[in-house]
Parts: sequence; structure tokens; C-alpha cells
Amino acid sequence: MDLTLSLAQKATATVGADDWHTIELPQVRRLTLCDGPVGVRCEDPTSPSPDDFNKHDSYPATCLPCGAAVGASWNPDAVREAAAGIAAEAKALGVDVLLGPAMNHKRTPLGGRNFEYISEDPVLTGTLAAAYVEGVQSRGVAACVKHFCLNNTEYNRLTIDIDVDEDVLRDVYLKGFEIAVKSAAPLCLMGAYVRVDGKYCCENERLLSRILRDEWGYAGTVISDWRAIHDRVAALRAGCDLEMPFMSERSAESVVQAVQSGELDARTLDRAIDRLRALGDATAGSGEAPDPAQAYLAARALAEESAVLLKNDGILPLRGKVAVIGGRAKSPKYQGGGSARMNARQVTSLYDELSKRLSITYAEGFTAGEADERLLAEAERVAKAADVAVVCLSSPPSDDAEDRDRPSMRLEAGAYALVERLAAIGTPIVLVLQSGAPIEIPCRDKVAAILETFLAGSGGGEATARILTGEVNPSGKLAETYPERYEDCPAAAFYGTDPDRMRYGEGFLTGYRYYRTKRVQTAYPFGFGLSYTSFRYDSLSVETDGDEIVCSVRVTNTGDRSGKETVQLYAHLRDGVERELIGYRKAYIPAGKTVAVEIRVPCERLTVWKDGATRANNGYEIIAAPHSEADGVKASFHKICK
Ligand code: BGC
Repeated sequence: MDLTLSLAQKATATVGADDWHTIELPQVRRLTLCDGPVGVRCEDPTSPSPDDFNKHDSYPATCLPCGAAVGASWNPDAVREAAAGIAAEAKALGVDVLLGPAMNHKRTPLGGRNFEYISEDPVLTGTLAAAYVEGVQSRGVAACVKHFCLNNTEYNRLTIDIDVDEDVLRDVYLKGFEIAVKSAAPLCLMGAYVRVDGKYCCENERLLSRILRDEWGYAGTVISDWRAIHDRVAALRAGCDLEMPFMSERSAESVVQAVQSGELDARTLDRAIDRLRALGDATAGSGEAPDPAQAYLAARALAEESAVLLKNDGILPLRGKVAVIGGRAKSPKYQGGGSARMNARQVTSLYDELSKRLSITYAEGFTAGEADERLLAEAERVAKAADVAVVCLSSPPSDDAEDRDRPSMRLEAGAYALVERLAAIGTPIVLVLQSGAPIEIPCRDKVAAILETFLAGSGGGEATARILTGEVNPSGKLAETYPERYEDCPAAAFYGTDPDRMRYGEGFLTGYRYYRTKRVQTAYPFGFGLSYTSFRYDSLSVETDGDEIVCSVRVTNTGDRSGKETVQLYAHLRDGVERELIGYRKAYIPAGKTVAVEIRVPCERLTVWKDGATRANNGYEIIAAPHSEADGVKASFHKICK
């Protein structure tokens, strides 16, 4: 108990001082909090509002590829490095807490913030979020994992009550957070807007105290999402240390009254102060000077790791006369909207970067909205004169934003029309997509190659050009299924049926778990991505080593280009779900060489939540495969972990 602070001071310290700061008190530093996750969005109070969401623009900083791209990288090292780069920039701007990573499970492709989120698999989400946290915190800045939990869509997010079975909650929706919290110890965690069991997440004692703190041992600071607290006293009691932003004097006053009346234990308030003090101490100090050039290279490297080659009939890498078509080649969609939107210091375009490498022609073809006959005719003329047409399209401008879900999984009508018209000419088409979430690609049989580059941040244009020309061999793999059409999605039947309540009726059968188990055809499955070379999997061995299993897979690069392959390990863990990801590793394999790829998996990943506890099976079949639908190689494993 700190005797130097009055009750009123303590109460005031647990609510924001304004939009982005806490108050300064003796021994408790004033903290600066900024979004996150793609870069530091530190508001410049002198700048005008850039859109209808943000009050001001932010100071220029490096923009990373979005969360969907982070997922598709399957590369914790690249994520750690990129996150460290933006954290150094945050530190130089005086930021103590960077509000990221965003890591909610992707339940439906319509989720407005799916671009920010990482994956439809909790092991992939949790491990990559952990790498992000490590990168940020290596620069003396606190990471803030968000939004704990179940803010999986934007549909009525401020009030919706989520109804999910306990075992599904534990093993799908909480699992990613559990992995990140236990392995990377994020200094902060943000409570979500939604309700669970009828209680707002920031006022939910079961989530914030019993599960997060008592079961997982979380010692960091819990912060509310902005305006997510409805009752400050209830939130403090539940375990939410800091209310953000400043709402009114009423918040702190209610805390003072509650302590005085005995409604709130004074020790609860003291614990919150202790955590805020510890957070201030952990983030004190000036840190190393940022290196924007290095941060850009790390952002570009992450974009290169994450671009997914969905199709290639041999047309890539590019050669011959190249026509570049589509306004997005010059003006890329490189980030999403809402609180994640930032002021990117530098953005490269595919057009500029390809021009440096090849002699190209260009037509705008389409930028947004409906098809335009004049632009279509010009695009046809330019495509006709070329050996290959690189058509660059993005998801609709209003998609990939906070506060609203996507109306559909489709591109705009004019985008599809452009592909149809160009396909009729006969010049092979390379489709380059800039999208934060899966889109329907009904024209995929009419194009020769497809590269999904996501919202690729500052270095996206250069990364895409390097991949298309073969300087970089693509190695991204999908971190979420691309269904044929939205209606195929397992959550579709349960989405938006009741404005007050959302039942997660598909249970465990979310994402690839559903498509694989129910044999539903997808456009591109979870884990899928091509390379300019090819790989063969030969054998898998599994052994135990303490509280881990060690899986070793022999993978041969059967082509004449060196490349990276992400080996994925799946197991059958519970009735009714054929495969679940338990581990993965991205490995560099030189052309023509065979490499033993070793993957260590904590035994607890083989357990399932059942009747109030985690339980293990007696044996497992483990599959090492290049994606969730591939046969792969198998091994049985019967020993019980220590
Ligand atoms: C978002 C958070 C964000 C916060 C501060 C909220 O609207 O849900 O992700 O960190 O605003 O901008």
C-alpha cells in the first residue's frame, strides 16, 4: 500500500487524463499510449483530421503489412524484427504503450477488422502475436495485445453478447491469447467491447481475473478498449486497471465513493496502481535511436515473407513485354481504416518499382466503383500489345476498416469486369490483389497467376515487384481459408441473426477445421501458398523430449531455385474435428537439397479442454503437410509427455 498517494489521486490514476495519456503522480509515470498495430499512430495535434474516424493525423512513421499479412508470413523472426522497427519509432515519439498486436480469431471473412487480425488458427495467431510482442518490448515499449476477447466481428460490437461453449472458448477463442500471454508476457492487454455471459469484457471478472490472472498467471496491466467501460467500479473489481480514454470526472469519483462505502476493496485499487507503476518503470528510459531505413527494410521483408502465390501457370516470374493495369499499381491500398490507420512515412508502388526493373506500359483500367468503358478500352489496347498483363486490384475502398463489417467478400463490379474483358483478349493475366481479407475470385480460371499481397504497408510495392520479377521467391501461405463464396463459411448461418446476441453455433468447426472435416471445397485452403520451386515431403519422426514433442520432417527442394517452405503439423485432437494445427516451421531449403525440418511442440498443445480441465489423449496421429488439405506424411505417436 502506497501511503504517499491519496485515495482521490489513486482513483484518478486509473482513468485516462485525455485520449492518449494517463496522469503523472509521485512514483507513477505519466504514460503515453498510441495505436498500433501496423506502426505508431501518434497523433499530431496540429494536423487536420484525415478521415471520419481520426481526429488528427499522426506523425509520419513506417507502416508494416497488416495483421492478415503477419499471419501469412508464418515467420516469427520476420515479425519480431518488423515490430522492433516500429517500436523504436514509437519510443522516439515518447510512446510507452503501443496498442497492438490485434489478435482476435477470424471467425467470418466479413469481419471488418480481419485485416488487423492474424489468423483463423489460435496456434498461428498466438505464436506470431508473441513474436510481435517480443519485438516491440525489445525496444523498451510495452505491447498491448487486444481485444480480449471475442471481438471477432464489428457487428454491434459495443453491445453484442457472445454465446460460445466453454470448450470452444478455451481451445479456439482464448487459446491464441493464452499462448501470447504465457510465452511473451505482454506488458499490457486490452479488454474488448463485447459482452460475454451478459457481462462486458472489461467488467468481466471470470475473464480478467479468474482465467487471465489466476489460471494463466498474467501480471501485466489490463487496459480498457476506448470507451468500453460502462461501470468503472465493476471494471476495477473485475481486474481492469486503466480506463481509457478520459470520459468524465464521474469515473474517478465513483471509485472514491466505492472505496469509502466499502463497495470496493481498497487493495483492488492499490493493485491497479502497483501495475501502472510497474508499467511506467518497465517503459522508462529513452531507448535506441530509431533507424527509419532499417524499419523500412524490415517492413519490406515482412511483406515479402507474406505475399501468397495462389496460382501460377508458369507465367511468373515475369518476362517479355509487361503491361501494368489498374490504378492500385500506382496508388496502392496499403493499410486499412479506423484506429489502425496511420500516416505512413514512405509508400512504394508496384508501378514505380516495376518500372525500375522492366520496361512496362500502363493503363488505369479501374480504380474504384463501376466499370468505365473508356478505361476498359484503353486497358484492352495496352494488354493486347504486351506478352503479359499484370492487373492490380484491391478490395473495395470501404472494406477493411474498424466499426463496420464488410458487406460481402466481393471485389467491386468494375474490378471483375476489367478481368473479364482482358481475359477475352488472350494475353495472360497476372492478378495482384491488395486485400485485408479473403475475396471471392470467380474469375480465377481465366487468369494465369494470382498473387495476394494483402495490405502490404510501406514496402509493399517494392516487395511485390521483387516477387513478380523473381528477385524474391514467394513463401507466404494463407493464414485463413479463401472460401469459394461467403455462403460456404461455417459462421455464415450464425452471423447477424439477432442484434443483441451472437451464438457461435459452429463450435469447433471454424475456418479450415470445418472445410476439412466436412469436405467442403474451398478456393484456396488454409496454409496454402505456392513457390517458384517445389517441395517433396518424405518422412516424419516424432519423439518426446521433456514437455515437448520433437517432430522431424525430411523435405526436399525438387526445383532449381532455392526457397522457403512452411511445414505445418496437424493432429486429430478431438471427436468431430479432423485436423488442428499444433505447430509449424518455415525453413529455407536450397535448390536440390534435402533438409530435416525440426519442429518442437509443447505437449500442452496436444491437450483439449474438457469438463473444466485440460486433458490429453493416449495417442495421436500427427500429419506434416504443406497445407491443411494436403495428405502430407504421417506418424503415430503413443508416448505420453512428461
Ligand atoms: C479500437 C482499439 C484502439 C483504440 C484506440 C478502439 O476503437 O477498438 O483497437 O486501440 O480504439 O484508438
